[in-house]
Amino acid sequence: MSSIHIEAKVGDIAETVLLPGDPLRAKYVAETYLKDVVCYNKVRNMFGFTGYYNGKKVSVQGTGMGMGSASIYIHELINTYNAKNLIRIGTCGSIQENINLGQVVLAMSASGDSDANSLYFEGMHYAATADFDLLLKAYEAAQKLNIKTYKGSVFSTNTFYDDIPNRWGKWQKHGILGVEMESQMLFTLAKRFDVKALSILTVSDNIVTGESTSSKEREQSFNDMMKIALELA
Ligand code: HPA
Repeated sequence: MSSIHIEAKVGDIAETVLLPGDPLRAKYVAETYLKDVVCYNKVRNMFGFTGYYNGKKVSVQGTGMGMGSASIYIHELINTYNAKNLIRIGTCGSIQENINLGQVVLAMSASGDSDANSLYFEGMHYAATADFDLLLKAYEAAQKLNIKTYKGSVFSTNTFYDDIPNRWGKWQKHGILGVEMESQMLFTLAKRFDVKALSILTVSDNIVTGESTSSKEREQSFNDMMKIALELA
């Protein structure tokens, strides 16, 4: 059996799945960090790989950008392939002046603007949170690896481009560290289906200062984040 958007057979995908938005980053992670790698999905070029890290089976699946795309892969990984630990490895735009390019954010919770979430909760506001065990393990791994991390809330948006003046001012004031496009839905679906989720994010741009990294750097320069994520395998 396979699912609609993933052609793997049940059993081909590990219980722990790393989730980059970019399918080419999934390929990079698999080729760089895993042994005995098998590509289990090429549908829509949304590559998924399973391999071994320190002898432990782990998968890496691209999700695409945004909660609409990511929710499809997350749903199928959990409900068809029995994934139990879903760890987003992605990027965010920092909205705090002191959080700079290349730094790592461990997302404790995710606010957001997803209509899918507000429709599901009938207009009320669900507080989407990461799994505490995964968060603690990621924090401990980062400490061991001597990697500085910022712990706090992020904001998941469905609109990368907008023309709202000072759009992030209120969120910055309320302690949101960065803006990305998937974590709120990841945390919500994980709780709905009783599995664990976490988001580990590298700052790719600073929305306050306007600094940003190139797409080549985005693909390859996020080793700190990946080292933390692989410790959770
Ligand atoms: N907005 C939304 N998502 C992002 C950004 C951003 O500025 N940077 C990285 N992911």
